This record gives sequence, C-alpha cells and structure tokens, in this order.
Amino acid sequence: MKTYIVGNWKMNFTVGESSIYLHKLLKRLTSARGLEIVVAPSSIALPTLALQTDRHKIRLSAQNFYHRDFGAFTGEVSIAQLKGTVDYAIIGHSERRYIFNESDKDIKLKVAAALRNGITPILCIGETDNEKTFGETADVIRDQLLGGLADVSKEDIKKVIIAYEPVWAISSVKGARLAPPDDIATSVDLIRQELKALYGKEAEDVPVLYGGSVNPSNAGAYLTIPGVNGLLIGGTSLIADQFLDIIEVAKRVRS
Ligand code: 13P
Repeated sequence: MKTYIVGNWKMNFTVGESSIYLHKLLKRLTSARGLEIVVAPSSIALPTLALQTDRHKIRLSAQNFYHRDFGAFTGEVSIAQLKGTVDYAIIGHSERRYIFNESDKDIKLKVAAALRNGITPILCIGETDNEKTFGETADVIRDQLLGGLADVSKEDIKKVIIAYEPVWAISSVKGARLAPPDDIATSVDLIRQELKALYGKEAEDVPVLYGGSVNPSNAGAYLTIPGVNGLLIGGTSLIADQFLDIIEVAKRVRS
C-alpha cells in the first residue's frame, strides 16, 4: 500500500504565495516511489495550482466543498466543479465540524458526492479533549465512522481514506499536546475493527492516516504505528523545509 503524506494548508497563503510554495516543493522533491504526496490549498488557489503541478509528484486536494453538484447555492463550490482539478477532498475535518457546525449528515453527503464525482474522500474523525477525558473516544470514533460512511457501499469503501485526528492534538487548538503513539495505535486498531465489522475484507486496504502536531522529529514514530498508512499535516506543512523533511522520513520508513 502507498504511504500518504498530505499537507492541509487550511486558510493560509494567497494564490501567489501558494504558487511560489508549490514551485519550491516541485523543484526540491526528489523521486518518492511508493509515496503519494498531496497538498490541500485554499479553494481559490486550486485552478492555478492544478495547471502548475506535476501530478506524478504532487496531487491536489480540496479542503471543503458543498455536497450538491450544481444549482442555486450562493457562495458554495461543489466537488463537481473541482473535478479535473483535485484528486482528493478532505471531509469532516474537526474545524468544519466544530467551527462550522457540520453534522455527520452533511459529512456523509459530502463523502457520497466525492465518490460520485470520482474524487477520493479523506474522511477525518477524532475525539475532542472532553470526549477523551470522559472515556468516549471509542464511541466517537464509531459514531463518526458510521455517520460519515453511512451511504458508502462495499465496492466504494476501497476508494475512501480515513484520517484519525484527535482534536486535542491539533497544533492550533488551545492546550494541544502530542498524542502518544500507543493512544493512536489503540484508536487506529478500533477504526480497523469497525471497518471490518462494516465491510469485511473489502475494507482491509483502506488507508488510515494520522494527523495532529506532526513534525519531522515525530513523523517516523507516527508512521511506524501498526495500521497507519500516512500523515495529515497542518502547521508544519506550511514550511517547505519541514514538509520535505517529513517526506524524507517517510521514504526512510518505507525502505
Ligand atoms: P497540525 O498538524 O497543525 O496539528 O494540524 C493537523 C490538522 O488539522 C491537519 O488536518
């Protein structure tokens, strides 16, 4: 299975800055066989970056979109409009769930829309600090998986990526702390068990990524957790040297 290194730029960089940054990455990225390098810029930068990127080296992801394909939805961008521009779409990120009140229903509609349009959904799940404190991690993981995948068939589960991002480990969250690899291993194991219960063998090859305060020093430890197939990186992905260092770590771990 491939190892995925995904940079979520969130609401950072102008179009010009995004383009300069991608140029830098493309120039400095050496062959990364077995790795899938993906960046998720702001929607406004996507068309420019799609013309600029070399898809053999770096693919693009949407950070968000509306689940309907076309119509009277002022201010929205659909995944049908992004077809040909992105290969992936991040869905259900905790910032969308908690800042923009996205529900599991919104999320399941987006997962279905991405699949309908041939885009790989990266479904994000993960518990908050409070939920962890109250021992609800397993329930949250189960609920968010069941909710987000509610309309995904056995044939389509192979086209989905899951990203486990405990909210309390995301660097921009107040009081964020590094997730111990053992905690992540327990959650990833639960995700895999749940996928197996829902889809059987069809789900064995579903990639599961980890996200939360990943940097070049901890990337190796996170990538070697059993069942983890890649990383979803926020803050550190905004610094070219660090993002490239993480890619180098991933190459070493794979070889
Ligand atoms: P950080 O890497 O900044 O903790 O962000 C993680 C994240 O939210 C990626 O989607």
